[in-house]
Amino acid sequence: MTSLAKDGGVGLEHGADASVRGMDPDLIVRGERAALGPLRVDLAGAFARWSNDPEARRGVLRRGIRTAETEAEWIRAAMATGAEHRPEAVSFVVYDVADLVPVGSAGLFEIDHLMGRARFGIIIGERRGQGIGTDAVRLVLRWAFADLGLHNVMLEAMAWNERALHAYERAGFREFGRRRGALVSEGRRCDEVFMDAIAPDVLT
Ligand SMILES: CC(C)(COP(=O)(O)OP(=O)(O)OC[C@H]1O[C@@H](n2cnc3c(N)ncnc32)[C@H](O)[C@@H]1OP(=O)(O)O)[C@@H](O)C(=O)NCCC(=O)NCCS
Repeated sequence: MTSLAKDGGVGLEHGADASVRGMDPDLIVRGERAALGPLRVDLAGAFARWSNDPEARRGVLRRGIRTAETEAEWIRAAMATGAEHRPEAVSFVVYDVADLVPVGSAGLFEIDHLMGRARFGIIIGERRGQGIGTDAVRLVLRWAFADLGLHNVMLEAMAWNERALHAYERAGFREFGRRRGALVSEGRRCDEVFMDAIAPDVLT
């Protein structure tokens, strides 16, 4: 059974959660501040907490309320999709590389292997503003270009989300356009910012 722990723990009331028990979780790649690992159903409660966080809801314009149950369903489906040889989407758990506490998730979706492109998304649910998000973006971009062989990854963000835009730019994204007044965030219209990153820029 899962619970919504507030301490950055994963909310497991029993079982063998690796980060809580001091065992290293499985990691796929490590960066300077972040590490990426496979999705874990035992983190469903943490995923719900990260998604329901007011700042995260504002940042990704999320209306629905997530629970450990809805996240467990999503995680299982995403695991199956990500396991395919030519996945349409891949998602990762993002860890703080310093102590291997899970802090969020990031991934690629709408992966088009024929065209070599995909879209990117990220939520850092805790420990924001410590460089983990920027490093996680870098790691996912490297995955897109080096492992999946893609050429172009794009994202959309709200124009007021300076922290996200700054982190994306430092990780290798560049703005290529704005759709004016195309989003409503907390009752106010704002521009939608489009950014992309390309393999030769990131893999140098
Ligand atoms: C956006 C997000 C992924 C960034 O991850 P993070 O770990 O918080 O970001 P980092 O600490 O790696 O980097 C933030 C950068 O923005 C800078 N920054 C913070 N607030 C800023 C502001 N108001 N204006 C400009 N830059 C700002 C920081 O100084 C830092 O840059 P630096 O490394 O050059 O000092 C994370 O905050 C998040 O998930 N937020 C909620 C959900 C969300 O908005 N998702 C994105 C939807 S498009």
